[in-house]
Amino acid sequence: MSNQLSITRPDDWHLHVRQGEMLKQVVGNSARYFGRALIMPNTVPPILNGSDALEYQAEILQATQQWPQFQPVMSIKLTMNTTAQMICEAAEAGVKAVKLYPTGATTNSQDGVELSRLKEMAENLVFDAMADYKMVLCIHAEQPSQSVFDREPYVIPFIEALLAWVPRLKRIVIEHVSTAKMAQFVASWPGRVAATVTAHHLYLTIEDLLGEELKPHYFCKPIVKTQRDQDSIWWYLKNNSNFFFGSDSAPHAQDAKEACSCSAGVYTAPMMLPLLAHMFEQHDMLDLLETFVAHRGADFYNFERNPDTITLVRSDEPMIESEESDRNTPRQMPLRKDDRIYWHVAD
Ligand code: DOR
Ligand code: ZN
Repeated sequence: MSNQLSITRPDDWHLHVRQGEMLKQVVGNSARYFGRALIMPNTVPPILNGSDALEYQAEILQATQQWPQFQPVMSIKLTMNTTAQMICEAAEAGVKAVKLYPTGATTNSQDGVELSRLKEMAENLVFDAMADYKMVLCIHAEQPSQSVFDREPYVIPFIEALLAWVPRLKRIVIEHVSTAKMAQFVASWPGRVAATVTAHHLYLTIEDLLGEELKPHYFCKPIVKTQRDQDSIWWYLKNNSNFFFGSDSAPHAQDAKEACSCSAGVYTAPMMLPLLAHMFEQHDMLDLLETFVAHRGADFYNFERNPDTITLVRSDEPMIESEESDRNTPRQMPLRKDDRIYWHVAD
């Protein structure tokens, strides 16, 4: 087995970097390695239009000056008040994607979209405006009124209806796919519907989260599912080019995670590429890592693939898991018991 792997510089098509102090703490973990990241808009206050996105992009660029290759690709959040005009203005400001959160589905989504009112939004030409500018519609596909394991598949008929109402809308991404049913649905719309896949949904199952002791750092939305669901996602990732990488690395202060009411989000950014290499090696799929993290997403988003490469090296020393003592600092996802990662990124 090779101990070294050079791949095209990867992109992360789903990333939370927050704002202010937290942004400064976390963004370097991604900016140092990645070419692009699609930045999620569920900040407080949210990113709702082109000028919000430009201001947020400037904050990120300011914090990542040491890594000039890093390009934050901006998204805005869709609300019931988003107009076609706002979409056009955002596109003119360079925004590439619009994020649809069903109301209450996850962190900071109270101002999201009522799925029952999608038709009304389509009639107001909100989705046609996205199509005009070839924007990508990114969907957090969970309906929170349903039982946790059914929340994702429940949304499928709503997406099917949207695809029929707005035939011009050519690119939809189902974010952080977590169930076999949704993976199968994505594969049934080649080229028009794609999915991002996170490292933690490839790594963890509900057994890891709940089976022994409750592990708050494994809690996210959508919740990690069964081994069968995970196997199915691995299968589609292997066999279908519309499944590409989006980390959904979602930092929260340790105090917010290790609490009576635990915030949803798994913080993987500091260990991202070593973790992916580790899992792909275990699945005997190291040769697919590059296409998954560096080719497919760029192709789907109509970006050139990154011009340079990064190198991963397998060493004899395992990765040391950092344990932050500062309670305001997010803690990276702990590995499963007895697991060790020997990959690291060469500088
Ligand atoms: O677990 C999650 N955390 N899922 C999301 O969809 C949002 C994210 C966050 O912003 O913390
Ligand atoms: Zn997310």
